[in-house]
Amino acid sequence: MSVVGVLTAGGDCPGLNAVIRGVVARTLKSGPHEVVGIMNGWEGLMDDDTRPLDRDDVRGILATGGTILGTSRRDPYVHGDGFSSVQKTLEKNDIDTLIVIGGDGTLQTALKLADDGARVIGVPKTIDNDIAATDFTFGFDTAVQIASEAIDRLTTTAEAHNRVILCEVMGRTKGWIALYAGLASGADAILIPEVPVDLEEVAKIIRRRHRHGRKYSMVVVAEGVDPPEEMDLPRDIFGFERLGGVAYRIAPILEELTGFETRVTVLGHLQRGGTPTAFDRVLATRLGSKAADLAITGENRVMVALKGTQILPVPLEEACAEIRGVDPELYEVATTFFG
Ligand code: F6P
Repeated sequence: MSVVGVLTAGGDCPGLNAVIRGVVARTLKSGPHEVVGIMNGWEGLMDDDTRPLDRDDVRGILATGGTILGTSRRDPYVHGDGFSSVQKTLEKNDIDTLIVIGGDGTLQTALKLADDGARVIGVPKTIDNDIAATDFTFGFDTAVQIASEAIDRLTTTAEAHNRVILCEVMGRTKGWIALYAGLASGADAILIPEVPVDLEEVAKIIRRRHRHGRKYSMVVVAEGVDPPEEMDLPRDIFGFERLGGVAYRIAPILEELTGFETRVTVLGHLQRGGTPTAFDRVLATRLGSKAADLAITGENRVMVALKGTQILPVPLEEACAEIRGVDPELYEVATTFFG
């Protein structure tokens, strides 16, 4: 018999509940095993805040946003005593393997716990889609869908008023959401952290477009692009910079350079809330189920990853090796449609 622990940490992401449901249903179906839910990310492991999860606890959550376990950005190695209190909670609850559903920072912490002796399986989670060693993360498809719909709506009002609209989307260090949503909605320019921002060039594209009869433009901006001048960003209680608003710095410069009225919409947390798309529900379910299978068979130090059409284990080290940027070729394709 195995006892599997499961937690969700870092920013939330559509599909978290589908993963939890996958973990619980699959574990309990595989034999006389148990699942322990850890509340509020690493915080619950540090403070021994746990609850048993049975099949009924995960009924009706497949399509819900958020996470029934709660989440936080508190980290045992940064805000606690490292492995010590974590180990106590694992031992007290007889947890054999911990399934950690998280983004880059959370997976790095999972690797440290593995180094300290815990048995861990990672599940890649982030709307930003920037985790290495997996083709896609769940939540990304939902975020792109939300952003594309928003950009479509902004386009009609931009057209009605002959305006340039900048739509800022999430993407802390990489421009996946901006690139995909921009491609999906035919954006006139897409600004991402991987490509140095050249506002003169963007202005040139917009002026040319407007000379040729279109009197409105849509520019998609990833929140993580370098601001035109230094921005003093506020920090959350755990010390992480709160991004958001760089488009407000870019807009007046573009307005000045083009002479066209330029407005800004920042989508922010809208991109993370609500129901996951069908694609994300299926991906999350498969990832959760595979993580459970690996936990029960005693695997350790791996992350479940989407590779082509398969869900496969990859070394956790590989997933933590880099923050994955967009494919430059795909960005180049997007530039074909600029202006
Ligand atoms: O990492 C995912 C993400 O959505 C980033 O794109 C964004 O910068 C960050 O989370 C915001 O996190 P929080 O809600 O904690 O401010």
